[in-house]
Amino acid sequence: MKATVVGLQWGDEGKGKVVTYLSRDYDCVVRYSGGSNAGHTVDYGDFKIVHHLLPSADLKRQRMMYIGPGVVVDLDVLLQEIEQIDQYLPYARRLLRISKQAHVVVPFYKQLDEALDKARLSAIGTTRRGIGLSYANRALRCGLRFQDLENPQRAKDLLQELARIWKISIDCEEILNEMLTKYDLVRDLMIDSIEAVKVLRDKNLLFEGTQGVLLDVDVGTYPYVTSTNCSSTGVQAGFSWPVKVDQIYGVMKAYTTRVGEGPFPTELKGEEQEKLRKLGGEYGATTGRPRRCGWLDLVLLRYAIESSGCSSLIMTKADVLTAYEKVPVCVAYKINGRTLGEINNLSNIDEIEPVYELFDGWKSLHSPEFERFVARIEKELEIKFSYISTGPRVDEIIKI
Ligand code: GDP
Ligand code: IMO
Ligand code: MG
Repeated sequence: MKATVVGLQWGDEGKGKVVTYLSRDYDCVVRYSGGSNAGHTVDYGDFKIVHHLLPSADLKRQRMMYIGPGVVVDLDVLLQEIEQIDQYLPYARRLLRISKQAHVVVPFYKQLDEALDKARLSAIGTTRRGIGLSYANRALRCGLRFQDLENPQRAKDLLQELARIWKISIDCEEILNEMLTKYDLVRDLMIDSIEAVKVLRDKNLLFEGTQGVLLDVDVGTYPYVTSTNCSSTGVQAGFSWPVKVDQIYGVMKAYTTRVGEGPFPTELKGEEQEKLRKLGGEYGATTGRPRRCGWLDLVLLRYAIESSGCSSLIMTKADVLTAYEKVPVCVAYKINGRTLGEINNLSNIDEIEPVYELFDGWKSLHSPEFERFVARIEKELEIKFSYISTGPRVDEIIKI
């Protein structure tokens, strides 16, 4: 059994919580995309963990964790996270493997990330985690992989090459020594991608998406996206094997949030936005930035479901909306005098006017009002829910 969990919006849909819950039925949780730009908060009730790099496998159940070659790894974040989970699951590291072919985020990428964003026509508002630089250097074929750290002279030559290409002056010797000291602490976790595939391919695997379909480099709101195929399409390359998944779970928040710049048709303004942000606790887990907040957008969800091949929906944070008498939902867009329920292109979504329908609010997720809301969303999106998350804790979820 193989399944993928992707976010259907602009990230922060609650993928981490959902993956942790679902991981009970799988042998291993695999990260295939992104890097420490991701922030997946998992609330176990007695403790909370924020995963940036480590797969959100259930720490109470000894599941395996694999960071595939499609992930870019910041050694500092990796070490901090291993230390963090060790407190809750002693020797958790024995369950973790990392692809030797994964690229390493060289520390100066983070400064360049910031400089690059400032030099743009219009800033993206990246997480400043060096993610774009890591994937750019991978594509330029001048990136540094874990396997390069096995050969310090080669790693030093590569760092010098990077300094020449980016025209920066860095102390390659010092950077290398620091990286090697950290690498030594995780060397035992490294595995060739193909060896990992041989071990894992016949097991039950849960592929944990990062970000969301609308931040995918190909189908998202380019250029306001991240640098990977964080949608379901990234699984094969990010795992290095033509894996066939049986189920693609799409996680959607009952409203919409976005961190960073870019179009957001249903974004709320002023106090209305602040109210939803406070109710939902919408502050970035990675950067602490306030998340932009707005209403659910069915037009974008239809697009995200279509482009990700999503086969089953999971709703989160509907409990946050119990404060509202009426819940607005965008059911269509008005563009140039025409009303459209579906779009094939995201390039002009900042010029559209959302058409809202007001749904009766719900006081509980067991009320007829909420049942009607769920049924209507299923009808509109032509796809069924498999789970509804009823609160932040891992066990606050109901199977439909
Ligand atoms: P991810 O990046 O998709 O994993 O999402 P984040 O972890 O960045 O943000 C989701 C936040 O909502 C986290 O703090 C979760 O603990 C929390 N959360 C997840 N599901 C629910 C839910 O159903 N209700 C509420 N109130 N909070 C939830
Ligand atoms: P999770 O996995 C929300 C956004 C950034 C920025 C854009 C590009 O927690 O859902 P990058 O640093 O990737 O070059 O930034 O993407 N972004 C996210 N927004 N959740 C995330 O991850 C994100 N990862 C990146 O805010 O707009
Ligand atoms: Mg997040």
